[in-house]
Amino acid sequence: MAERICPPWIGYLLASPLRRLFENPEKMLGDYVRPGMTILDAGSAMGFFSLAMARMVGPEGKIYAVDLQEKMIKSLKRRAAKAGVSDIIEARTCNQNSLEINDLTGKIDFAVAIHVVHEVPDASNFISEIYSALKPGAKFLIIEPKGHASPEGFAATEKAAVQAGFEIVDHPKIKRDWTVMLVRNT
Ligand SMILES: C[S@@+](CC[C@H](N)C(=O)[O-])C[C@H]1O[C@@H](n2cnc3c(N)ncnc32)[C@H](O)[C@@H]1O
Repeated sequence: MAERICPPWIGYLLASPLRRLFENPEKMLGDYVRPGMTILDAGSAMGFFSLAMARMVGPEGKIYAVDLQEKMIKSLKRRAAKAGVSDIIEARTCNQNSLEINDLTGKIDFAVAIHVVHEVPDASNFISEIYSALKPGAKFLIIEPKGHASPEGFAATEKAAVQAGFEIVDHPKIKRDWTVMLVRNT
């Protein structure tokens, strides 16, 4: 069962640079993100990870940042402009039942959903949409906070991912979080 949606005031806290002290995007994602990649940040909120990944992929790369809430996306766009990475990030709103990313089918090199899946009403559909957006061989990292997702809830997320066609390839260690690294093989 999906929890209530993260409100914008928490979005501001999540976008704070202080968060880097305990969740450092370069340390968490540096092994997977390369210059020139096209990346999907599903449930981006105000772009804490999108902005960091934009710097990592550089001017030849692209970040698609997708979120349900207009306020999150507006703030993300302001932050991207301030950081000089507006040209690298395409930020979009979606609806609760679909990421609305049909145009990205087969275009994505790497995707993340960080602290999002427990808020999504239909995790199976969310994961399947991301599967379709990935290129064969591309990876998808799900991170869920242990404070919001139960062991059973996370196991159900992994099961939905396998049912969507993903193979589980790793469980990167991140304090206080459940994680799973998935790959689309074909
Ligand atoms: C807890 S925040 C995490 C944001 C970001 N990934 C981070 O770690 O800073 C969860 C975000 O997911 C978004 N969200 C929730 N349900 C969603 C859905 N069905 N589709 C897209 N975004 C969703 C919320 O609007 C919120 O901005």
